[in-house]
Amino acid sequence: MLRLTFSFVSQTAPSARQIFELGFDMTTTPEIAVLYDEDVIAQRVDEIARALAEAKPERLLAVAILKGSFVFAADLIRAMHRAGLMPEMEFLHLSSYGAGTQSSGTVRILRDIGSDVAGRDVLLIDDILESGRTLLFARNLIASRGARSVSVAALLDKPGRRGADLEADYVGFTCPDKFVVGYGMDAAYAFRQLPYIGYLVGTDDTASK
Ligand code: IMP
Ligand code: MG
Repeated sequence: MLRLTFSFVSQTAPSARQIFELGFDMTTTPEIAVLYDEDVIAQRVDEIARALAEAKPERLLAVAILKGSFVFAADLIRAMHRAGLMPEMEFLHLSSYGAGTQSSGTVRILRDIGSDVAGRDVLLIDDILESGRTLLFARNLIASRGARSVSVAALLDKPGRRGADLEADYVGFTCPDKFVVGYGMDAAYAFRQLPYIGYLVGTDDTASK
């Protein structure tokens, strides 16, 4: 069995170089175990959308934090439509890498949103809440621009890895401490296309604690 050890503290998906350095061979297909299948995800996304609708947001702006959240965000806004909401959609591309491959903890804006958020209820949508630094940066950024409220929907929560003072208002699943892929999430740019959420067998992030 292919065994991978992700011994670095990951802020974002590891780069191809990191994976390479760790001995990950992209020419063979790693074993991926399913954590949450398509039906389970769809049901949870609908529940989150109904909870969002109960909060009766005003002039709702949904902001997907790219890249990892794009599949979740696409499903969530359609579930929001079914729940009776009319969100507008924006995209905020953030990077928590510095110049090197090691995560720096410094968040940079790679692409900003175009909409004015003043007076609006804004929902940040992200794939994984881990240290919380990325989402804390995003929340402070949007709040500083005069949003009426800023709430957070995270598909997965890894609470054991928190480094910043941030909790999500809506969580899909509390995730075991594994390196997960699929449903928009990647390892070395691969596996975003998988319709389910799985983990790379042999990865156990506990080594980095
Ligand atoms: P943090 O909360 O600032 O530490 O950043 C979390 C981000 O790191 C997520 O939005 C993902 O982009 C990335 N990330 C964390 N854990 C994983 C994982 O297990 N698989 C893929 N990406 C991950
Ligand atoms: Mg992300």
